[in-house]
Amino acid sequence: MPQFVSDEEVKEQGFFMKRVCAVTHMFDHVPLAYTHSYGCQQNVSDGEKINGMLYRMGYDFTDDPEKADFILYNTCAVRENAENRVFGNLGALKHLKNRNPNLIIAVCGCMVQQQHIADRIKKTFPFVDLVFGTHVLHKFPEHLYSIFAEGKRVYSLPESEGVICEGIPVKRDSKFKASVPIMYGCNNFCTYCIVPYVRGRERSRNPEEIISEVSGLIEKGYKEILLLGQNVNSYDGNGVDFKELLKKLDNLEGEFKISFMTSHPKDCSFELIDTIAESRHISWHLHLPVQSGSNRILKLMNRHYDIEHYLSLVEYARKRIPELQLTTDIIVGFPGETYEDFCETLELMKKVKYDSAFTFIYSKREGTKAAEMDDPISEEEKGKWFRELLEVQGKSGEEAYKKYEGKVLRVLCEGKGRTDESLYTGKSRQNIIVDFNGDEQHIGKFVDVKITKVLNWALVGEIIQ
Ligand code: SAH
Ligand code: SF4
Ligand code: F3S
Repeated sequence: MPQFVSDEEVKEQGFFMKRVCAVTHMFDHVPLAYTHSYGCQQNVSDGEKINGMLYRMGYDFTDDPEKADFILYNTCAVRENAENRVFGNLGALKHLKNRNPNLIIAVCGCMVQQQHIADRIKKTFPFVDLVFGTHVLHKFPEHLYSIFAEGKRVYSLPESEGVICEGIPVKRDSKFKASVPIMYGCNNFCTYCIVPYVRGRERSRNPEEIISEVSGLIEKGYKEILLLGQNVNSYDGNGVDFKELLKKLDNLEGEFKISFMTSHPKDCSFELIDTIAESRHISWHLHLPVQSGSNRILKLMNRHYDIEHYLSLVEYARKRIPELQLTTDIIVGFPGETYEDFCETLELMKKVKYDSAFTFIYSKREGTKAAEMDDPISEEEKGKWFRELLEVQGKSGEEAYKKYEGKVLRVLCEGKGRTDESLYTGKSRQNIIVDFNGDEQHIGKFVDVKITKVLNWALVGEIIQ
């Protein structure tokens, strides 16, 4: 059973929000917060909760850190460059703190859940007032209050398997697209990955909470719901599995789209594919990270599937959902990977012809199993392989989209064009980017677009009435 934060504890945080609000009301201006979330959608979703709490505590928001009374970085630890960026940005805040000693600077998220990083921040960035880990997100109001009340730095990084906290206020970035976490944490311990160490054990929200949140969002006019989990296929909410949850959500009335990420191939079932194929609202999009085309490397990565199984899923999904968009994640240069292993990844890419792929060079993460493995290939060599992979993928992306030329796709309009500022943009049921000749009033609505031009990462078309 996952550990739920009790109603009393949630109420207590409500009192802390009121107390902070009493403090911010005494300011001679409405205090402004600048917050930035790095990393994956889960982190961005946490960022919306942080903003929800800040809003309740009397803060408004700014895009300019120079104008802020409160600055927060919600960090990601998945690769070294993500961490380096945060260290760089933190360093640059020193002059703001010198100029305004009342400025409060906070760092939270996956990166600081690692003790060695929290220690480095403590030592190197004395102007950081608040550091809190992923397991105490809900205690943010209490921590902020102690800074105002006691004027001391606060470090809160408890060890924990992780909790579920319902009822945290959320300030959503969009009026028509909403992220809804269905589970937290991860139990898979892929050998390269830091996530299970910084996000705790896998735990699922109760299906009733999810269904009531999603139906509330649809009533409010939300048109796209993104269900989140590190491995949504192992969702287990009191015996309700992921495909059952999807079916319940698909039964809700209205015009909306349901997407989800991420699907781990080891737990992706043929029944899940059937559920998507037979649904009214679920996107024709499967993000199925393969990581490598070599069975030897998949074993070293602890992924628990082989390429033969993976290909059988791809074949079935494409048969059942003819317009499926298939995307993936690939890691190049895992410790011990040889050029022959890498060539198997290239072969797989050529065979599967992904619509698009997120490709990463392996980054060593302290504390993971892979960090102990021999890694003889130079970064320069890995860079060469990486470019080779991009070239192969570039070709297959364009080929994959050619089939849409002349077709009509239903698109949820999101805003200004991505290929051209004079156009508007959105995503189709396949979650493919489509630019078209819309206008302001289309934003947040579905429109039918006839595709006239195909690029390797987007489609361009014209609205049909
Ligand atoms: N839970 C998701 C992915 C989470 S991280 C899943 O299992 O697919 C997103 C992606 O980052 C991963 O799919 C992987 O391709 C990449 N990644 C994770 N750790 C990495 C590392 N140490 N180096 C390089 N890429 C990594
Ligand atoms: Fe990381 Fe693997 Fe868990 Fe994904 S499934 S978060 S890659 S350990
Ligand atoms: Fe990064 Fe944490 Fe997500 S490590 S990818 S922000 S779960």
